[in-house]
Amino acid sequence: MNMDQLKRQAAARALEEVRDGMQLGLGTGSTAKHFVELLGERVRTGLKVIGVPTSEATRLDAMRCGVPLTTLDEIDHLDITIDGADEIDPELNLIKGGGGALLREKIVAAASDRMIVIADDSKWVPTLGRFPLPVEVIPFGFGATRRAIEKAFAECGVSGQMAVRKAKDGHVFVTDGGHWIVDAQLGRIVDPPSLAKALSAIPGVVEHGLFIGLASSAVLAGGEGIRVIERRKPKGD
Ligand code: A5P
Repeated sequence: MNMDQLKRQAAARALEEVRDGMQLGLGTGSTAKHFVELLGERVRTGLKVIGVPTSEATRLDAMRCGVPLTTLDEIDHLDITIDGADEIDPELNLIKGGGGALLREKIVAAASDRMIVIADDSKWVPTLGRFPLPVEVIPFGFGATRRAIEKAFAECGVSGQMAVRKAKDGHVFVTDGGHWIVDAQLGRIVDPPSLAKALSAIPGVVEHGLFIGLASSAVLAGGEGIRVIERRKPKGD
């Protein structure tokens, strides 16, 4: 089975958790796209749900698949967010943002009763950090923000190359919110909660790709089948 089939399997398993009448957060990326497509198939056969997309790309996918959409201004909570991840550790801490949608993804996940992470099992790691950590920044005052990020890294015992993300056309990648992303090659993040806190305290940092205490479960598809890992601590811890 190839990677794409594994992603679709994980998405199909998460779909089993969806019930009639639910309000869903719809993630971004190639795995979440499978979920949106499968959800669309169920909607076409009568399932009643409504979704909040985490990116413009997902909004367009959901519309194409016939999934009704709303916003967090129109509804007051979400039952489940289903989203992919770039890395997942045994505490269900995540690195997200490889697709650049981390800000909306985090807002939507935080507004959800549960977050189910769907992935092929290559995303499962003992320690976060092999995947470059995305940090979304305001372009104004970027030099100062960059120095503050470096300082936060040093204080949290990590270091590594940082690069402003480029789009395929070579220009600076701009997020749906009009910001830039710095990708930091940290290798091994020893204390993800402390680093998350330090980055969140920097004025020019809009958001970062460390999702701490947000995922309730992870559905991992691999050659040996599907594993569902439940988070032990309650949401927010
Ligand atoms: C989007 O910004 C990301 O957080 C994605 O959820 C993450 O990059 C996983 O994407 P894939 O499912 O394409 O691997």
